Amino acid sequence: MNIQVLAAPLQGVTDNVWRMAQHEVFGGVDAYYAPFMRVEHGEVRRKDLRDVEPARNKGISLVPQILACQPDHALMMVNALRQMGYSHIDINLGCPFPPIALHRKGSGMLPHADLVKALFEALAAIDGVTYSVKMRLGWDRNDQWRDILPLMDIIQPVNIAVHPRTGKQQYKGELDMEQFEALLAASAWPMVYNGNLRTIDDIEQTMQRYPTLAAVMVGSGLAANPGMFATDAKPNDYRRFHDLLVEGYTEQLNGGEAQLVRHLQDIWQTFLPGTDHKLFKAIRKSRTIEQYETAAAAALADVENALISETEEDSENDLAE
Ligand SMILES: Cc1cc2nc3c(=O)[nH]c(=O)nc-3n(C[C@H](O)[C@H](O)[C@H](O)COP(=O)(O)O)c2cc1C
Repeated sequence: MNIQVLAAPLQGVTDNVWRMAQHEVFGGVDAYYAPFMRVEHGEVRRKDLRDVEPARNKGISLVPQILACQPDHALMMVNALRQMGYSHIDINLGCPFPPIALHRKGSGMLPHADLVKALFEALAAIDGVTYSVKMRLGWDRNDQWRDILPLMDIIQPVNIAVHPRTGKQQYKGELDMEQFEALLAASAWPMVYNGNLRTIDDIEQTMQRYPTLAAVMVGSGLAANPGMFATDAKPNDYRRFHDLLVEGYTEQLNGGEAQLVRHLQDIWQTFLPGTDHKLFKAIRKSRTIEQYETAAAAALADVENALISETEEDSENDLAE
């Protein structure tokens, strides 16, 4: 495809294990955005720092993301990231979750241009770092971006990724393409579209509609089908991808078997949503890693068989043509 593809951050899904497995088995992503990091109890969460350690993200282009309202918290994170060698950092102005947004963080900052200005000024004062921004149209109104856009001059962002909803909408309701178009027209910065891109066709249509876009960002579509861009994916690639997840989480999660099983089950909330209902239920019901592995193997075999028959049908059609 003739456009940059960015993997959106999904807290709880697109961590280093997921990113490395996606890259190794399928690829097609130009840069991965890490789920946001934050300061808790006066320090940058260790788990968040571990996730972006260069050694855990070898061979991929990774953009760490920070979530903060207070400039001092943002600076702590930027300094920690600079020490790790990062020089491009994404600023989260989009998170819609009420416990975060009601503390004026993420999309909850969008009605408070004064806070955004103070944050941007503190960040712009740091040498050697470039920023991008991931934002929504507003928190409780779809035009709050109008007060935020002029502030971008302060940080001169590499790009601005927009999910065209308000924070209050969370992930429900219509995408507001009219406001997105107004924002696209008003912005002097490279723009990235993010929202409901599930197939290569969706991306191509978006590029045709908005030819000035610098990139597209794909979240749940890629979590559902990590092979979305792998035109030559083999049927057993989904099993390979899954096995890398099991291997990685077995190594990285230290909360014992129950935590491991729960985490893998959570992944199936978004992974391969076409999975047969009964097979999915067996995954949900498993309590031990053995039960989980048996249930997941059955579901993956089903996916594999479906892909094999699809491939056979395709080659029969090719012969018929
Ligand atoms: C479970 C979940 C976790 C998310 N975590 C983050 C995050 O850490 N940082 C962020 O900027 N966006 C986060 N998002 C928003 C996504 O990056 C993306 O903007 C949103 O899902 C819309 O894009 P999509 O339709 O391609 O999924 C999250 C979304 C979901 C559903």
